[in-house]
Amino acid sequence: MKTKADLIQEAKKNAALEAIKHVKNNSIIGLGSGTTVAFAVEALGERIKKENLKIMGIPSSYQAFQLAVQYGIQITTLDEHPIIDITIDGADQVTPELYLIKGMGAALLREKIVATASKYNIIIADESKRVNTLGENNQAVPIEVLPFALQLVKSKIAALGGIPIVREGKGKLGPIITDNGNVIIDANFGLIQNPQELSVKVKMIPGVVETGFFVGLTDIVYIATENKIEKIQK
Ligand code: A5P
Repeated sequence: MKTKADLIQEAKKNAALEAIKHVKNNSIIGLGSGTTVAFAVEALGERIKKENLKIMGIPSSYQAFQLAVQYGIQITTLDEHPIIDITIDGADQVTPELYLIKGMGAALLREKIVATASKYNIIIADESKRVNTLGENNQAVPIEVLPFALQLVKSKIAALGGIPIVREGKGKLGPIITDNGNVIIDANFGLIQNPQELSVKVKMIPGVVETGFFVGLTDIVYIATENKIEKIQK
């Protein structure tokens, strides 16, 4: 008998398999981060081998880099290939308007850079990520912050109505440090009706490097449920 956790893993894999069908030969692929994307990187590696495809990947994190190496995906950089054909990434929340919150894996900065450099962005997720409004279920918005500015940013977020919590490391004392040497504030703003406006206000705070709001970047979302894959498109 499959457990709920097994079914979620299966759903993530199904969404990943759907996403990699979009990948064509001779393309540059942005590799997002997270447990769902891990299935896509593995499946992409298998396709490359089987179909002898010429694909290069641009990883959005050290995790994505390691997965690409593990599954035999050749790595390139944005300097060599400033335009990415397709990026496949996960998300922490997705609305019907394709507004996203990302960054629970602390990879949001490079994920946003890779997404912005991409002609086409595909998000894959299991149905627990689907919401009507960002911020539901007490979901905080991850914000990458320069350590020097931490206290200033916390007070400015509070002034914008958010509750800022500095993310602590697991297996390490003190705050987590991102791949870019910064820290993460998880800011709970309650329900967010206008993510674009709030994202701009947060981004304007000196010391904020990037926010986990992804608005206007996504082309397709594949949400996998137990027995079907739902496609949400622009
Ligand atoms: C990484 O910082 C995040 O943006 C991930 O894309 C997001 O947390 C989704 O991760 P999972 O696929 O592991 O849920």
